[in-house]
Amino acid sequence: MALDLTRYIASIPDYPEKGIVFRDISPLMADGDAYKQATEQIVQFAHDKKVEMIVGPEARGFIIGCPVAYELGVGFAPARKKGKLPRETIEAKYELEYGTSALYMHKDAVKPGQRVLVTDDLLATGGTIGATIDLVEQLGGIVVGCAFIIELDALKGRNKIKDYDILSLMNY
Ligand code: PRP
Ligand code: ADE
Repeated sequence: MALDLTRYIASIPDYPEKGIVFRDISPLMADGDAYKQATEQIVQFAHDKKVEMIVGPEARGFIIGCPVAYELGVGFAPARKKGKLPRETIEAKYELEYGTSALYMHKDAVKPGQRVLVTDDLLATGGTIGATIDLVEQLGGIVVGCAFIIELDALKGRNKIKDYDILSLMNY
């Protein structure tokens, strides 16, 4: 029987700032069955998309992107924060629900024409995933879908990525 994955999300009011309800995936990651189910639901979404590479943003995008890549038998490329990648990079700036930032990828992380599934734990304003998609497309990759464990509906991140195929495992 499928688990109700919402039971594995902790909601913390006023973190990291007053007015933000932080949706914490760590109870889900800590439970083998819940983590496996979340991974498999995204693998299922990827199934007919001929995915050749997973790209996920630092840090929580790695947590769900890597097991999905492993299950699909494809590679994983990280989009990282400033100063973390040792070779030549490209940059995409973005705004967060709480602050601004930029993400970087190695110039050879995605090959032109490669079919990429972008993953993250959570879609809020869509800034992070928008920057991740921008990086993949700067490198000539084709974004064939975006998958999240959680989508925060009120922040309307979906509007920023409306041209893409989107999967969210739960909505708040
Ligand atoms: C969080 C989360 C998403 C992003 C969603 O990451 O993991 O990547 O915010 O927000 P957005 O849709 O408004 O961009 P955060 O930048 O806090 O970094 P972390 O994963 O390193 O904790
Ligand atoms: N990233 C951006 N907004 C968030 C939230 N409300 N909970 C957890 N991660 C987030």
